[in-house]
Amino acid sequence: MIYYDKSPKNKGGYRMKIKICIGSSCHLRGSETVVKRIQELVKEQGMDEQIELGGSFCMGKCSRKVSVKVDDEIYHIGPEEVDEFFFKIIGKEE
Ligand code: FES
Repeated sequence: MIYYDKSPKNKGGYRMKIKICIGSSCHLRGSETVVKRIQELVKEQGMDEQIELGGSFCMGKCSRKVSVKVDDEIYHIGPEEVDEFFFKIIGKEE
């Protein structure tokens, strides 16, 4: 279950910064899969111009999931939750 306090959905006009933790704890929890799937979704949705994607070393927020920072907010997601996360938090406004 992912908890969404805020939904910084891309409303256009700014470049959303997404950093995926590739530190050892997040690596063991599937960060490589998360990175690949987010890259695929960004391409599929044609959002390359609106999103700045990068990796990060340990964010100091290790949990049982992978830490993903969207602008200033850190989320914890499992590899199986990437699609849900993407469309709720990152995806374009409908
Ligand atoms: S290794 Fe990812 S937050 Fe620590």
